[in-house]
Amino acid sequence: MEIIIQPTAEAASAVAAEIVARLLCEKPDAVLGLPTGQTPLLLYRELIRLYRKGQVDFRRVTTFNLDEYVGFGSKHPQSYHSFMREHFFRHINISQKNVHVPDGMAKNIPAFSVRYEKMIRAAGGIDLQILGIGADGHIGFNEPSSSLASRTRIKTLAPQTRKDNAKFFGGENKVPYHVITMGIGTIMEARQCLLLAFGGKKSHAVAGAVEGAITAMNPASALQVHPTVKICLDKSAAAGLQKADYYRWVYENKPAWQKNC
Ligand code: GLP
Repeated sequence: MEIIIQPTAEAASAVAAEIVARLLCEKPDAVLGLPTGQTPLLLYRELIRLYRKGQVDFRRVTTFNLDEYVGFGSKHPQSYHSFMREHFFRHINISQKNVHVPDGMAKNIPAFSVRYEKMIRAAGGIDLQILGIGADGHIGFNEPSSSLASRTRIKTLAPQTRKDNAKFFGGENKVPYHVITMGIGTIMEARQCLLLAFGGKKSHAVAGAVEGAITAMNPASALQVHPTVKICLDKSAAAGLQKADYYRWVYENKPAWQKNC
């Protein structure tokens, strides 16, 4: 794992945007796995800025979102379809046919989930999976106790996650109970993972994920056995890391040839 600690969320998001931009430069038809939530907003803003400056091109890019609320159609204002349109897709030159978000209205969720996995494989697999992390360590909507080998499926949200996401709904009682999410096994098949976390509320989950035992009780800890993971943190999210100084030192002393990798 490469732990990149920056003073602010803006600085950490700029590093993350550079990682995405570099990939798209090397592989213009890359497949990206995308998250929602507060955390990736600065990254999306930065990528939009780079696109407007002509430094990134999404014309040939394919995307797969991690998750969606069950019962929400793509036009629902709180759906992740709407979230992605509003905060990212409508600002860039991505082709609508290359955008995939789980279908919250799927009549047969298990059958849809199998199809979603097939679509990922047919696209050549995910090159870069971008992730946020929940305060309980969840990635996608894989709540604690999710199988570390899980695939795309329906999940029931933990009460804390419904509370945390109430900010997007104007009240906890409006947050759905069920979601469709890529599984941890699905996420682990991405060629590279890039996890972002900002703010002190994430420090406990981040410390568990990076320095704790690999456990289904902190789903992000599964990333410890992924071969290529970068974790971009601000100072507060890194506050629980025992070896924070070492990670900073490693980042500052990367060999010159590795600086931009
Ligand atoms: C949500 C999403 C996750 C996200 C997490 C953190 O439940 N399904 O993909 O990483 O919660 O959200 P936030 O970035 O708003 O803190």
